[in-house]
Amino acid sequence: MTERRGVSRRGFLKGLGAAAVTGPVGFAGIAMAAKADEEAAAVPVLGPGATPVRLKVNGKVHDLSIEPRVTLLDALRDTIGLTGPKEVCDRGACGGCTVLLDGMAVCGCMMLAIDVGDREVTTVEGLCGPDGAPSDLQQQFVAKDALQCGYCTCGMVTAAEGLLRSKPVLSPDEVRAGISGNLCRCGTYTRIVEAVIATSALRRKGK
Ligand code: FES
Ligand code: FES
Repeated sequence: MTERRGVSRRGFLKGLGAAAVTGPVGFAGIAMAAKADEEAAAVPVLGPGATPVRLKVNGKVHDLSIEPRVTLLDALRDTIGLTGPKEVCDRGACGGCTVLLDGMAVCGCMMLAIDVGDREVTTVEGLCGPDGAPSDLQQQFVAKDALQCGYCTCGMVTAAEGLLRSKPVLSPDEVRAGISGNLCRCGTYTRIVEAVIATSALRRKGK
C-alpha cells in the first residue's frame, strides 16, 4: 500500500480554519493542519463492526460485543434480554424506553450503549426487590389501577422512580411535570399521579 504523505483534506481545512482566526494562511496553516491530523489519528476509531462494550445493569456487569451504533435500548432488549423498557417511537418522543442512568431518567432509544461508560443502568426489572417482589411504587400502580393496556407502564414507573429519587416530596403538579415526557395513550394520568403521590407519602412514613 502506498504511504500517504502530507496533510489530509480534512486536516488542511481544519488548519485553514485555525489560521483564518490567527493570521494569514501559510506555513502556520499547514503546521496546524498536520497537528489536526495527528490529533485525529490519536482518537481510536471504533466500528463499524462489533466492539466490546461493558454495561452495568441492575447490579450485574454484562460484557457485550456489539456495533457502536447500537442504542442502549436495543442492547438491553436484544442482547441482554431485558424487555421491560419498550421500543415505541424510537425517537425520544414517548418515554416508553425510559431507564435510569445513575438514578436519572433517560430515554434508552436516544443514547448509544457505548456512551454509557461506568454509569449504572437500572431498568424496571431492577426496581423489584432481590426476590422479584414488586417495589412500593409498582405496588401503588396496581393498588391505584394506574394502567390499562400497560404498554407505557414500564417507562412510566421508571420515570416516576427517577422523579421520587430526585425529589421525595412532590405535589401533583410536580408529578405531572416530572412525567410529562412519558405518554399514555390510554389516558391513565390521573391514577398514575395518585400512585406516585401515595408512594411519596409511604416513603416519608418509612414504609
Ligand atoms: S421509544 Fe424511546 S422515547 Fe419512545
Ligand atoms: S396504559 Fe395503555 S398506554 Fe398507558
